[in-house]
Amino acid sequence: MRKNILYAQSGGPTAVINASAGGVISEAQKLGIGRVFAGINGIEGILNENLRDVTQLSQEDVRLLQHTPGAAFGSCRYKLAEFDKAPDVYRKISEIFQKYDIGCFFYNGGNDSMDTCCKIARYFAETNTPCQVIGIPKTIDNDLAETDHCPGFGSAAKYIATAIHEIALDTASYPKGKVTVVEIMGRDAGWLAASSIVANHCGAGPDLIYLPEKPFDIDAFAEDVKKVYGKKHRCLVAVAEGIKDEQGNYLTVYQGKDTFNHVQMGGTAYRVAKLLEERGFKTRAVELNLPQRCAAHLMSRTDRNEAIKSGKEAVRQFTKGATNCMIAIKRTYVNGKYRAKYFAVPLENVANAVKHVPSRYILPHGQISSDLLPYILPLMEGTVPQRYSNGIPHYFKSDITD
Ligand code: F6P
Repeated sequence: MRKNILYAQSGGPTAVINASAGGVISEAQKLGIGRVFAGINGIEGILNENLRDVTQLSQEDVRLLQHTPGAAFGSCRYKLAEFDKAPDVYRKISEIFQKYDIGCFFYNGGNDSMDTCCKIARYFAETNTPCQVIGIPKTIDNDLAETDHCPGFGSAAKYIATAIHEIALDTASYPKGKVTVVEIMGRDAGWLAASSIVANHCGAGPDLIYLPEKPFDIDAFAEDVKKVYGKKHRCLVAVAEGIKDEQGNYLTVYQGKDTFNHVQMGGTAYRVAKLLEERGFKTRAVELNLPQRCAAHLMSRTDRNEAIKSGKEAVRQFTKGATNCMIAIKRTYVNGKYRAKYFAVPLENVANAVKHVPSRYILPHGQISSDLLPYILPLMEGTVPQRYSNGIPHYFKSDITD
């Protein structure tokens, strides 16, 4: 039985990905599991034997890590080829795992990362390699299958609802305003853009919301804007970065593709605003961009706690012998109060799958059903007190930032 464990991060960071890292490290310390290694820059760094021993991380550092945005151990977007295309890569992984006596690999990421996890787990099973593989969910996009929601989503939704609420108040200042178009992350799934309805629930929010799940018809959209503007003399629009026209073309300003062949997003709000300018509207484009996934000063306590618990549960599943699985969250209500439960689901059900916003929530004319609120609101609940230095939050300093 191998003794040590290896944890690594992959894909776009979230405000709470390091909370899961903290969960893994603290649970392993509590259970007295061998040594805990962190792979630097995900599987890409592991292949270069770039590992740190974090077994002795102090309680204070674990606490700080759990409040810190970014991927403290570095991330990557690395597509692991199938075994028959790159047998050497798999052999290298095996050699490194053997050298460090790794009994379980924990990979903290989204659907692409679960694809990597799944391939490694399959290879280990076929080669009788004594190493378990467990995925820990993470993505602001909330698009992982088999789990009620993903750690990272609640904090991003909270930031978006807050920012849009504040933008709505700002844009209401003048008697005659502009059409303000706000771009929200989400390439294939519109959970985050849909979360902007929370701002309406709280007092002021977007008039129109568009998700990648439904084709974006620019003429119908311009009509909707005209109606809102006619009534309010301003219009606030939320668009997901991944909206597509009726032919299936992204509106994003094309910025190349990543190794998973995903189009790199950006500039959708500017593009939409420009289309409106051509139709005679005065506009302003706002891209919320990275703060959506790194605004740790506004993290949701529920989200942070669930990220920690997902990490701890992964270690517990390791001790029970689980492999080829990802930790998932089930929502329950006890006396009307929201609660989360943790369990393991097969990796092949999650790898590369995308969970979309169900069409019953997406109404015509840029409207999102308020029936979605009971799903989103509990995930944004609670605040996490930060430690401040010079008036700004004090974060964990990892050597990858040097
Ligand atoms: O991980 C999800 C995500 O944040 C998407 O919402 C976004 O499209 C993408 O990552 C951005 O990726 P990158 O950081 O590689 O530009």
